[in-house]
Amino acid sequence: MWKGRFTQDTSTLVEKFGESISYDWRLFPHDIAGSIAHARAQFKAGLLNQEEFDSIEKGLREIEADIIAGNFEFRTSLEDIHMNIESELTRRIGAAGGKLHTARSRNDQVATDTRLYCRTQIDAISSAVLTLQKVLVEQAGRYAETVMPGYTHLQRGQPVTVGHHLLAYVEMLQRDKARLSDCRSRLNISPLGSGALAGSTINLDREAIAAELGFDGVTHNSMDAIAARDHIAELLFTISMCGVHLSRLSEDLILWCTSEFGFVQLSDAHTTGSSLMPQKKNPDVCEITRGKTGRLVGNLMNLLVAMKGLPITYNRDLQEDKPPLFDSVDTILLVLAVNAEMIAAMEMCEEKCLAAASDPMLLATDLADALVKSGVPFRSAHELVGRAVAESIQRNVPLDQLDLGKIDPAYTDEMKSVFSLEVALKARTNIGAPSFENVKREVERWRSCL
Ligand code: ARG
Repeated sequence: MWKGRFTQDTSTLVEKFGESISYDWRLFPHDIAGSIAHARAQFKAGLLNQEEFDSIEKGLREIEADIIAGNFEFRTSLEDIHMNIESELTRRIGAAGGKLHTARSRNDQVATDTRLYCRTQIDAISSAVLTLQKVLVEQAGRYAETVMPGYTHLQRGQPVTVGHHLLAYVEMLQRDKARLSDCRSRLNISPLGSGALAGSTINLDREAIAAELGFDGVTHNSMDAIAARDHIAELLFTISMCGVHLSRLSEDLILWCTSEFGFVQLSDAHTTGSSLMPQKKNPDVCEITRGKTGRLVGNLMNLLVAMKGLPITYNRDLQEDKPPLFDSVDTILLVLAVNAEMIAAMEMCEEKCLAAASDPMLLATDLADALVKSGVPFRSAHELVGRAVAESIQRNVPLDQLDLGKIDPAYTDEMKSVFSLEVALKARTNIGAPSFENVKREVERWRSCL
């Protein structure tokens, strides 16, 4: 493509070192869509006649069909997807193919292709997130009244319900979707027409090209348009954040399915056995989800570090943006799909959850609240209950069986009514709190808004 200036062939080692076709071939549908829109603008500008435009469009469509059918040979010597397609087009249709690159560069071409790729994949990821949310909401509905301990510092804190716990993740995923859509709206503008870095002396209708490609507008600075990769970094962050949420869910499930907790049974189809220990049933999907999240975060770091020292505009380093991008997209789609399937099939062990929540210590805060309702300032109430807790531990008598009146006259007999999980959850009616009614209402709200 640049033979005019060079007298030597590219070294085979440099060819191998610099190629990106082994991974950027995946941009082909976007590259072809971009080229057709660009050719149409050339035609409207009088740079191509009808016959030339038609043969370019037909040639590109045929190449696309051949790639989809697996009948296209990608050449490493042609470096990347842009040159592979253009060179094959010219081989097939002759001189008109050589006009396609008028008023564009691979720099605005690759910027356009990756934006289109990100847009398509954001839609796919959002819909996979939605599927997982729906699965979580259905499980939350099923276990809306299943009481379990809620933890802070991984120490039993206060009673919640399994439904409430699962809906926490639906909230996180909703924010992930909002971030995806925010990122989509920022990246959905067309850089095509920015050329190598300074536009072109040949004017094409950039807005018409953008509209044909479904962009919401055009970029307004050719140098930024060529240099920018923050939209990719943003997507990689958004994917990482979603991965981190799923990694935390994995960690909950890994704990829940230990013999020590025993809160959940994952299905045989979503667990693995041990090659050595016959009794084992391992939560590999959760562990791999947790592990793959490291890769997602690594991919984000990869791109940020690659960008940080680059002068604007294009530098070849930017070619390294695609492996982390493709890897994160593939990884999160797989993680979301397998988790949706696994969570849909999981069965909670309701008695185990209830038993773990039945320690009266989990209602110590409720006892302090009861003292507050009778006029004791919270700080004093906290101390009084602390003394009761200490006595319970020291004498090995459950908190609800102590003679509280002996500890302090502020305690009354009715206050013992707080030692009921039913009472405790019924009382938690504030917006966002885990009463059965609230959780059921939240399940309904999610069902209708998803
Ligand atoms: N394969 C290149 C990339 O992914 C395309 C742009 C090449 N531009 C250039 N001036 N060499 O970044």
